[in-house]
Amino acid sequence: MFSEKRILEIGELRLENALVLAPMEGYSDLPFRVLCRRLGSSLGITEFTNCHALATGGEGSLRKVAIVDEEGPVACQIYGNEPQRMGQAARVVEESNPDFIDLNFGCPARKIRSVGCGSQLMRDPDLVVAIVREVIAQVAKPVSCKMRLGWDEDSINVVEICLRLQDLGVKAVTIHGRTRCQKYLGQADWDWIARVKEALEIPVIGNGDVCSGEDAQRMFEHTGVDAVMIGRATFRKPWIFREARAFLDKGESLPSPSLLERMDLLLEHLALSVQYKGPVKGLRDMRKFYPTYLGDLTDFPALRRELVCVDEWSALQDTLLGLRENATQNATQNATHVANSMGGHS
Ligand SMILES: Cc1cc2nc3c(=O)[nH]c(=O)nc-3n(C[C@H](O)[C@H](O)[C@H](O)COP(=O)(O)O)c2cc1C
Repeated sequence: MFSEKRILEIGELRLENALVLAPMEGYSDLPFRVLCRRLGSSLGITEFTNCHALATGGEGSLRKVAIVDEEGPVACQIYGNEPQRMGQAARVVEESNPDFIDLNFGCPARKIRSVGCGSQLMRDPDLVVAIVREVIAQVAKPVSCKMRLGWDEDSINVVEICLRLQDLGVKAVTIHGRTRCQKYLGQADWDWIARVKEALEIPVIGNGDVCSGEDAQRMFEHTGVDAVMIGRATFRKPWIFREARAFLDKGESLPSPSLLERMDLLLEHLALSVQYKGPVKGLRDMRKFYPTYLGDLTDFPALRRELVCVDEWSALQDTLLGLRENATQNATQNATHVANSMGGHS
């Protein structure tokens, strides 16, 4: 019933039925990559990092490309539009020893494309080639590229760009099935991802609108890609990797995690955030994830207001453990109530 295993090979990395956590600025940081790894992602990619900042040793940028063994296979992603600077930045990230280095040619954000980077570069394939050639010349690690379909629907050039990159020695490409002009609107076009896969010999990672294990399975089947990358769905449910893995490997549909399981995951995520970012930044950066774990509680808005005011890790832990204790008691009472009422009617 389920498709044969797809093998993603990039340099020495070899992954079966790979589920990749998308690079996402503000989200795919080190704690989140580690958490997603524990939940079943096969490969993580750092948030994109500017080549100038890296080449000049900017501390914040160096932190963004810091990686640890615990997160498993990982790539560092960089962006920029000057070949020499990109080569320098690639040498800097190579020192972190990622499995490969990924170059961003897909970001649609105005602040990035207005300075000629990200998806803007798809309008200048010769410059893309010059950047990639220089990066490959500067580093020993494998190099991959992530891009969209093209600028707009009248100028889709992803296949021709990818063929040129393959000739240069790029080891894999990730394709988000939208044009720059679509931004995040409409449906990702998986037909174009299939065309890229058909045209290339190097591995292709498919991306866009995968929100469940079933979607991942459909993308593998529809496009023949070597791996599937998941982005925004992970904000709502980082456990999507566990679900998708169960579905792909065993055909199982897992139930959604209970409130207690989500609270445990929140505590685990918070602990990772504090471990890798320290208590101040660690807690602050977690605020955007509260809806992920607690958003369906009826009193969530009030709870959120309470949680964001707690700025000490131990106090936040106490608050959440208290909340967890209440939830455990409620779950026990509900179970007893159900058992009693069933007994009464039997
Ligand atoms: C908040 C946010 C930040 C992103 N940051 C990056 C980034 O740093 N590098 C990158 O290549 N793509 C970035 N993306 C694009 C995603 O990697 C992915 O291509 C896109 O979300 C489509 O996949 P999805 O439909 O699974 O979300 C970002 C997307 C979002 C929503």
